[in-house]
Amino acid sequence: MSEQLKNSLEQAEQDGKFIRTIRSFVKREGRLTKGQASAIDQNWATMGLEHKNGLLDLSQVFGNDNDVILEIGFGMGKSLVEMAAKSPDKNFIGIEVHRPGVGACLADAAEAGVTNLRVFEHDAIEVLADCIADEALAGLQLFFPDPWHKKRHHKRRIVQTAFAESLRKKLKIGGVFHMATDWENYAEHMLEVMQVAPGYKNLSQSNDYMPRPDFRPLTKFEQRGHRLGHGVWDLMFERNA
Ligand SMILES: C[S@@+](CC[C@H](N)C(=O)[O-])C[C@H]1O[C@@H](n2cnc3c(N)ncnc32)[C@H](O)[C@@H]1O
Repeated sequence: MSEQLKNSLEQAEQDGKFIRTIRSFVKREGRLTKGQASAIDQNWATMGLEHKNGLLDLSQVFGNDNDVILEIGFGMGKSLVEMAAKSPDKNFIGIEVHRPGVGACLADAAEAGVTNLRVFEHDAIEVLADCIADEALAGLQLFFPDPWHKKRHHKRRIVQTAFAESLRKKLKIGGVFHMATDWENYAEHMLEVMQVAPGYKNLSQSNDYMPRPDFRPLTKFEQRGHRLGHGVWDLMFERNA
């Protein structure tokens, strides 16, 4: 961006004429393998959900009134599919912007034969705002979100005060927002944000982190981290108001 354009955008922002949207992701085009492309073709009609269709009627989407767990940024979808397969009494919605990840998730889901999983290929912030009714969810999951290591990029971290509040509204009372990260500084940031977010109770007995619950599958990447002595932090906050 030219210096002149940058200055004029900054000036417009200061004047309140233009609000720059800060996103938690950079859209990587990434190559879609043949398998991922055909998984999308074959399964989108049954498992795909579209942001443009607006507010969802979850009972109609799943054909039952089971609890719904929503995962933000499922990556390649491995742990999401595993959870859906292990918990047929629950419904799962996954949201991911990265198309190869969506393809990989649908391929795994089809292979596992799960029927309790639906997927959006869209920005989770917009899906939550436009497609999910208030108090609709029993759980929200955010596993290993992009850590945005550099200080000047911390504003791109998805966990922020406004985000915590928008998620709280989507949870039922008693519903849980579960986060995990392998980046200590992000874990501390999550804790700082969530500790002062109104309407949440930390489920940790020590008022900080939780041991990994059995129902969160251990990813390959996490196993490798354990071998190298890296930490992983789980945080679980329940909506209580
Ligand atoms: C570091 S990866 C982790 C993926 C996966 N949860 C795991 O544990 O392997 C973070 C993922 O979040 C996705 N993501 C980031 N912001 C998002 C948003 N606003 N909506 C949907 N997906 C998002 C990215 O595309 C990326 O795939």
